Amino acid sequence: MIRINENFLKLQASYLFANIAKRVDAFQAQHADKSIIRLGIGDVTRALPQACIAAMHKAVDEMATDSTFRGYGPEQGYAFLREKVALHDFQNRGARIEADEIFISDGAKCDTGNMQELFATDIRVAIPDPVYPVYVDTNVMAGRTGGFQDDRYDGLVYLPCDENNNYVPQLPEERVDLIYLCFPNNPTGATIRKDQLKEWVEYARANKALILFDAAYEAFIQDDELPHSIYELEGAREVAIEFRSYSKTAGFTGTRCAYVVVPKECRAFTSDGREMAIHGLWNRRHSTKFNGVSYPVQRAAEAIYSDEGQAQVKALIDGYMKNAAYIRQSFQDLGFDCVGGENSPYVWINGRRDSWAFFDLLLSEAGVVCTPGAGFGKCGQHYIRISAFNSFENVEKAIARIQNVLS
Ligand code: MLT
Repeated sequence: MIRINENFLKLQASYLFANIAKRVDAFQAQHADKSIIRLGIGDVTRALPQACIAAMHKAVDEMATDSTFRGYGPEQGYAFLREKVALHDFQNRGARIEADEIFISDGAKCDTGNMQELFATDIRVAIPDPVYPVYVDTNVMAGRTGGFQDDRYDGLVYLPCDENNNYVPQLPEERVDLIYLCFPNNPTGATIRKDQLKEWVEYARANKALILFDAAYEAFIQDDELPHSIYELEGAREVAIEFRSYSKTAGFTGTRCAYVVVPKECRAFTSDGREMAIHGLWNRRHSTKFNGVSYPVQRAAEAIYSDEGQAQVKALIDGYMKNAAYIRQSFQDLGFDCVGGENSPYVWINGRRDSWAFFDLLLSEAGVVCTPGAGFGKCGQHYIRISAFNSFENVEKAIARIQNVLS
């Protein structure tokens, strides 16, 4: 008898953004004439940088001739891209990361979801609340939790993030083994200072724990004092894995390219206490289950690091950050407390009411899609998240409609 992994039965009916898309489609079907502005899922709307397009075209042409054609590439990514990543994203910022510690992939969603496979099922996992749902759901699938009760899974250690701690989780009272951190944060847009991140690195070192640091929104940081990478902190190489993505940075949500950094010193332990390098384990998993990102896409990603590419990426980010500032200011003017939008493309708004009710109100009355905070965890129940990923014209239009409904 073929039996299922019953951990899947513990999951909520559908993935958050799939659920929202379904509701929006149903609304649109009933109101075909209503124009809807989407500020829900963080999906970019502006075209890829020209430098990336030119590099991709050139790479596609290479695939058209036998002498320059490429078949399987290295599973970990081509050296031309890994070397640029190590130099520009880390070494130039004073973080000691080598090219062979970079694993190119097709997305931070997959990477953050897959990494937990390397670890035992009976470890204690600490998850901020609110949180990007992929971290929770993949641990549920793996069997690290009990059932879902009172909006939380038994067995996880939740780290509440709210106004009281400026949306930066405090160290847990009980001992944990695996810690998920995301900064600039999705969904709240909050940031972490170096001294705060240092506490987590020290905690992980003292407790033989591991931090999975999701830095997918690093490119949106405007404040020079904030850390861009956990490896700017001393001692982080032993206790942290970092995730990055070109999705939001350079408009690659549909093109797919990201990477994970696994330093050679980064370690985990066997049940009898032997230390193992995670690098070798991840390499084994990655090369078994993944055949690499396509050559044209890696060439496009490489072009981000050219002078032209850097200028074009900056223009994209500046555009989205202009939207974020406008959204934040407008909601503050309407009397709402907000966080985010200053070093992040997300604004987290305390709606002071049920988040799904707020979502329904904005959709039905204003034709604007947001993300209800409850979808990110119990602590998000009275919040909504507004994404800055759209044109300024649409953001202005959405805000005008929201002002109409709320004032
Ligand atoms: C989000 O809206 O939180 C993100 O777009 C989801 C993702 O990157 O997978």
